[in-house]
Amino acid sequence: MTEFEQMYREVILDHYKNPRNHGMLDPNDAHAEGQNPLCGDEVAISFRFEEDGETVADVGFEGRGCAISQAATSMLTERVRGKKISELAALPKEELLEEIGIPLTPVRMKCAILGLGVMKVALHRSKGTDLPDEWAGLNIS
Ligand code: FES
Repeated sequence: MTEFEQMYREVILDHYKNPRNHGMLDPNDAHAEGQNPLCGDEVAISFRFEEDGETVADVGFEGRGCAISQAATSMLTERVRGKKISELAALPKEELLEEIGIPLTPVRMKCAILGLGVMKVALHRSKGTDLPDEWAGLNIS
């Protein structure tokens, strides 16, 4: 393992042990919860919006599962405040994967993007826009 991979692993472990923005917001303006169908691990995310209805003011999440799924969701929540809802709803998974920073097998990739998929469902649903097809196979309600 390279020094960089070791550093990224430590960041992931820190997010897993000390999740940022932990806890669902109540009341909230958007929320969704989803499972990775391969393992049953879960993530739920909630958002509050600014008065403009276009910008994320606050975020909170809860979950249960492997380190990658929970840490990736924690990392994701750190980058959403103040962002446009439309921008986040279209956030490419590559941006999150880059932040995770370590090579992932296809199975671990599903772990890494669980929270991102849940976020997209919550935001698209709240705006009444269509979820892109690539996210349609998620087990999200
Ligand atoms: Fe279940 Fe990672 S093993 S989401």
